[in-house]
Amino acid sequence: MDETSSHAPPGGHAFLSAMTAVLGSFVTLILGGSATGYFLSPLFESKEEGWVDLGRADAFKAETPTKVEFVERKRDAWVTTEHRASAWVVASEGTAITVFDPRCTHLGCPFRWNVLDKRFLCPCHTAAFDIKGLVVGGPAPRALDRYPAKVVEQRLLIQPAAREEKETEKP
Ligand code: FES
Repeated sequence: MDETSSHAPPGGHAFLSAMTAVLGSFVTLILGGSATGYFLSPLFESKEEGWVDLGRADAFKAETPTKVEFVERKRDAWVTTEHRASAWVVASEGTAITVFDPRCTHLGCPFRWNVLDKRFLCPCHTAAFDIKGLVVGGPAPRALDRYPAKVVEQRLLIQPAAREEKETEKP
């Protein structure tokens, strides 16, 4: 008997090869599709991301500005970077909450809340802002900048990357 002959029916070997090729293509398609989706997904992610959780909204006492520190994550396609940042949270009677960028609108120095004067004071060139962020003294060209803020399920969320400049207005 010939060594190459087997007990397989004629055409069985070809059928097995065809099935292997079909299954191989199928697996390649699935894995390739998943990998492609993984690598391209950052390009199509929602622009809604970028909200930072500052904690329970009801933890902020009304008319008592509070400085909060947080970690801001910025994602640029496949690269995510982190840096420490802060914000001034001002809760009002009721549900309104305003969140200020902590940099003075003059030249960017960090300002502080002065409890006695009830003003935000900048130590660099003596700019002063009231609790609503409006300029009440010094060289600042406009009111304090704000971060978009919202309360979702009792949590205060802000969007630092979408800082809003407030038009100059009188207190
Ligand atoms: S940076 Fe604040 S007053 Fe100049």
